[in-house]
Amino acid sequence: MTTSTAKQPKPNPYYPIGQLQCETDTGLLTVPLTQEVAFRSWQQAIPEEYWGLDADELTRRIRTARATLAENVVVLGHHYQREDIIQFADERGDSFALAQYAASHPESRYIVFCGVHFMAEAADILCAPHQQVVLPNMEAGCSMADMAAPPDVYSAWRELEDSFGSTDDIIPVTYMNSAASLKAFCGKYGGVVCTSSNATKVLEWAFERGKRVFFFPDQHLGRNTGAKMGIPLDEMVLWNWRLPAGNLGGRDGDELARARIILWQGHCSVHQRFSLTQIEQARERYPDVKIVVHPECRHEVVQEADANGSTAYIAKYVAEAPAGSVIGVGTEINLVSRLAKENPDKTVFCLDPVVCPCSTMYRVHPAYLAWVMESLVAGTVVNRIQVPAEEKAHARLALERMLALK
Ligand code: 13P
Ligand code: SF4
Repeated sequence: MTTSTAKQPKPNPYYPIGQLQCETDTGLLTVPLTQEVAFRSWQQAIPEEYWGLDADELTRRIRTARATLAENVVVLGHHYQREDIIQFADERGDSFALAQYAASHPESRYIVFCGVHFMAEAADILCAPHQQVVLPNMEAGCSMADMAAPPDVYSAWRELEDSFGSTDDIIPVTYMNSAASLKAFCGKYGGVVCTSSNATKVLEWAFERGKRVFFFPDQHLGRNTGAKMGIPLDEMVLWNWRLPAGNLGGRDGDELARARIILWQGHCSVHQRFSLTQIEQARERYPDVKIVVHPECRHEVVQEADANGSTAYIAKYVAEAPAGSVIGVGTEINLVSRLAKENPDKTVFCLDPVVCPCSTMYRVHPAYLAWVMESLVAGTVVNRIQVPAEEKAHARLALERMLALK
């Protein structure tokens, strides 16, 4: 088993808390695709020549392809990507920063987006017409985004219309982690997109235009943002999309009438694992520990943490903490592991002792990056993400409303 930096599994100096340690804390080692347990079952098909390549060989090939493509390509990397991918990122960031980048850099013909499907779609919506967006592995989706199937959202909207008599006073707000068609839906019905770094501003914008917000797909980001704005918990009601249409998402008329935010019952399986018990354990071991979490965590976890914010916020929080700080982080392990390595004068650890990587971000294995880059060198665009033209205009409107908020 080799990696681009020839690293071998060894005890991690950054995680001194045995009980809070997880085997993934050392950073994820890249193995050839054939050794990946899940490769044959649910990964996108890829030419056989890439199956057995180790990390060193893949790194060498990606580097060569990159040099050949020169300024024709820009590689974007989300913070949750593994080291063997992030080393190639011209720009790394949270989903807001990467969308901003795509909207304001028309220089490169190809944008290779190392992240997940909804992020690449947002880049395609925002980039210039001559640019083409490529996602290395088409199976790199987002389980939270998948919890809001567009027909379910449209059906809920119709039910809300029937219940209230009109949706004129309801502003639809979709989290960036959603299908392009839902962004288009928001654009069409006077709504907007938000990310974890601007959710408060976006909800303020929405409440200037309507009495209620219909927020999807992440109940936790919606609830945490509403609570931060002073909205009582009982004025934020959950819409259970698993119930058959006609059940008002499990709410009664009174609950809906009181609701200021109607929250889609979606969640992130990585962030929903963080708990109050983990925070208590960290504080028992390190009385001075600071806890920083992503707002996709449950409300009680966010309330108990010292700080919360987007992946970019978390990175800044750790970087700006004084030397000697001990910081427990509630987010995906690739980012936590990188922050620990980049801040050797601090003790940085993941709050969850058995946390797993985001399994969909993880699907961007270097073999896929090598394949898409070498295909570009050969003049073939594989895995292009192309939002249908009829969705693009409305989706762009919803994204531009978000980008315009200062
Ligand atoms: P950020 O916008 O904070 O990067 O979050 C994206 C995401 O998918 C978190 O799970
Ligand atoms: Fe989706 Fe959660 Fe992965 Fe983020 S961490 S991409 S919300 S599944």
